[in-house]
Amino acid sequence: MTVANPVPNVTLDDGNSIPQIGFGVWQVPDDECFTAVTSALTIGYRSIDTAAIYGNEVGTGRAIAAAGVPRDELFVTTKLWNSADGPWTRDRVFTEFDASLDRLGLDYVDLYLIHWPRPMREDYRTIWQAFTELKADGRARSIGVSNFQPEQLRTIIADTGVVPVINQIEVHPDFAQTELRRVHDELGIVTEAWSPLGQGRGLLDDPTLARIALEHDRSPAQVVLRWHLQIGNVAIPKSVTPHRIRQNLDVFDFELDAAELDAISALDTGNRLGGDPATFDVG
Ligand code: A2P
Repeated sequence: MTVANPVPNVTLDDGNSIPQIGFGVWQVPDDECFTAVTSALTIGYRSIDTAAIYGNEVGTGRAIAAAGVPRDELFVTTKLWNSADGPWTRDRVFTEFDASLDRLGLDYVDLYLIHWPRPMREDYRTIWQAFTELKADGRARSIGVSNFQPEQLRTIIADTGVVPVINQIEVHPDFAQTELRRVHDELGIVTEAWSPLGQGRGLLDDPTLARIALEHDRSPAQVVLRWHLQIGNVAIPKSVTPHRIRQNLDVFDFELDAAELDAISALDTGNRLGGDPATFDVG
């Protein structure tokens, strides 16, 4: 059964557009990824977010091939694992990109992201130059970054004049990233939220979310996703559970009012769950 409500698209700075809800596959083992992505595509997701380091591009690609959805109706994102064992050269970026395309079984991706900035070295600048070439030759329809901070965003834009269309960052109500989202707005960058549900941990038991969910006859996860949508984020919730995969796409026929949005935004405690981009440099 597909979800009836269409997912709105968000227009990117380069004129392309991305569905506002996508399906994330972080921590889904490759052998489970075929089943999970198949469920998502059957239910109606058209945006799939993977990465070289997730080790599940093969399963993702197999599910895409088997689903038979026309390629131009899909939005496929993957990410360069710009590992710490530099130096990173243009040719190395191209080699890694080709390997991702091979694993996915695709001849282009809709979005290619630099996975982490690793600001303690300057490789990200060389990598972004190479990304602009991948964009120019059409094999990466759009290019962006992940986990970048304002300084690195401004540096790569100054270097190349090319704005990353997306910065995919950790965002959930208790880690709302208000200042970084403001910088994105200033620079014309779309905010894409990873771990949008706070990894399904304590956040979803919050009493404020429970109250709002009850008022709308929805789950706390759906309320959180509604918050993302209404503040303008793209979100990529992950689940391997079919009824949750369906639930997470079924968020387009109710709306939070201003007081509810404010109450959810007030949950921000700066509770970062993942790596800190300023220091992340492993692997
Ligand atoms: P599972 O994969 O077992 O269904 P995030 O996207 O923030 O990283 O969150 C992913 C986590 O949240 C996973 O553990 C996932 O569990 C859980 N999850 C995903 N969707 C829902 C939902 N609708 N309700 C409750 N938990 C969910």
